[in-house]
Amino acid sequence: MQVNKQIILASRPQAMPTSANFSIEESPIPQPKEGELLLRTLYISVDPYMRGRMNDRKSYVPPFQVGEVITGGNVSQVVESESDGFQKGDIVVGNSNWALYSTVKAAQVTKINPDLAPISTALSVLGMTGLTAYFGLLDIGQPKEGETVVVSGAAGAVGMIVGQIAKLKGARVVGIAGSEEKIGYLINELGFDAAINYKTSSDITAELRQACPNGVDIYFDNVGGSISDAVLNLVNKHARVPVCGQISMYNSEQVDVGPRVQGLLITYSVLMKGFTIGDYASRFPEGITQLAQWLVEGKLKYAENIVDGFENTPQAFLGLFAGENLGKQLVKVADPS
Ligand SMILES: NC(=O)c1ccc[n+]([C@@H]2O[C@H](COP(=O)([O-])OP(=O)(O)OC[C@H]3O[C@@H](n4cnc5c(N)ncnc54)[C@H](OP(=O)(O)O)[C@@H]3O)[C@@H](O)[C@H]2O)c1
Repeated sequence: MQVNKQIILASRPQAMPTSANFSIEESPIPQPKEGELLLRTLYISVDPYMRGRMNDRKSYVPPFQVGEVITGGNVSQVVESESDGFQKGDIVVGNSNWALYSTVKAAQVTKINPDLAPISTALSVLGMTGLTAYFGLLDIGQPKEGETVVVSGAAGAVGMIVGQIAKLKGARVVGIAGSEEKIGYLINELGFDAAINYKTSSDITAELRQACPNGVDIYFDNVGGSISDAVLNLVNKHARVPVCGQISMYNSEQVDVGPRVQGLLITYSVLMKGFTIGDYASRFPEGITQLAQWLVEGKLKYAENIVDGFENTPQAFLGLFAGENLGKQLVKVADPS
């Protein structure tokens, strides 16, 4: 008889999480009830926001519970359907367990067209991270031809799409990332105008000044902390700052007190706006259609860092905080049948 495997939150992390915070347990394969689907997981998306869910703290998504299965965005195949809208064999994307098999309510998942692009892209450029880049940049950032856009976390899943869309809109694009391989990729593969390695830079403000001779019109903030402090010093009048993520803070045990920015926002009439991708849920079809069109036309590239094997999911997640991924970090669990 086949057995299910699930990844459980074994304990809450202090500061940086470790593999000891996760355990893998075997369990019976669940049975779908009326209106549910039994899914076989094909790809698991590991995402920085999941670090926040490991804390016992109120946020825009509830915390994971110790002893319970971790959930997240996955691409899966329908094994059994108790819902009229789905058939055995359909490939779907949506929230389900970090498990080989999960049951979900049918409304929790969406069918993917496997002929449009590789199915993994439903978790990357045509999924949550691509949409985050698209709406955060275009709705809040509103890039215009000739403006300067700086993006941090630039070689990650969100950042690399932000930079490319900004280029499509005619902006000068400067990326900030954490390795020479990533810097080379941004400039040589994606056509960024400049890129700065924050891990080796001795003076990030000086490097930014050189890379942004006309100042910064949009700062797409994926990381927060001292990198963002340096960029914000260079904003122009009417700059826009979509605040997407603060990964440099996710493992901090103390609340960070950085420079207070309100004076700067007043002086330069800056718009700084936080958002979560859920704010744009009603517009996802628009975003996916446009991203898919750019992809098909060859105007948008994407990278995925795919780790093989369900058991390696915790390690792939931890790698996000060490910058091990270029592009979207995914785990391949199985091929579709
Ligand atoms: N608002 C939303 O709805 C939304 C949606 C998706 C993602 N996000 C946020 O957007 C950001 C990027 O997410 P993603 O999914 O695209 O992840 P990602 O950028 O693909 O992966 C995380 C990257 O963050 C960088 N990083 C890790 N620790 C860092 C630190 N201390 N300082 C600076 N950089 C660090 C690493 O790259 P380096 O090698 O460059 O260090 C790592 O590769 C995250 O903050 C995430 O929480 C927000």
